[in-house]
Amino acid sequence: MKVELTVNGERVRLDVEPRRTLADALREDCGLTGTHLGCEHGVCGACTVLVDDEPARACLMFAVQADGASVTTVEGLESPDGQLDPLQEAFVAHHGLQCGFCTPGMLISALHLLRTHRDPSRETIRAEMSGNICRCTGYAGIVDAIQAAAAHPCSRESGLSAH
Ligand code: FES
Ligand code: FES
Repeated sequence: MKVELTVNGERVRLDVEPRRTLADALREDCGLTGTHLGCEHGVCGACTVLVDDEPARACLMFAVQADGASVTTVEGLESPDGQLDPLQEAFVAHHGLQCGFCTPGMLISALHLLRTHRDPSRETIRAEMSGNICRCTGYAGIVDAIQAAAAHPCSRESGLSAH
């Protein structure tokens, strides 16, 4: 089936089997392997992307369901000149990752959180991020990073600099 969508601001045309997941289409057809696959059952959150600005489990969605949509993956956080987004820098500075497997999904969920909550408390961050599982960090560094990013000037103006 023909599918046309916008991925990180670029128009993409795909020809996919009806049962191809959005995660597989992004990873294998678009070469965007930053979207990780953990459980492939909608549990771990590693595959989280934004579809029309709402978080979605790319392992549970068919690519054809994203036809006409705008998709943001973790690759879309970085600026064209390779500059990390303030949220990514905060994860580095506050030890919000160890092995990094959960990190793309964490960053996308955190991006949505910061766009929808101006000054989130630690409790709000924990609640909003509860759909993303990390087996390494113990979560404290992730919460620290998101709080630090929330205080960044770019997050006040535009919900960070994702494009
Ligand atoms: Fe999609 Fe785990 S891989 S939720
Ligand atoms: Fe390893 Fe989160 S950093 S799973």
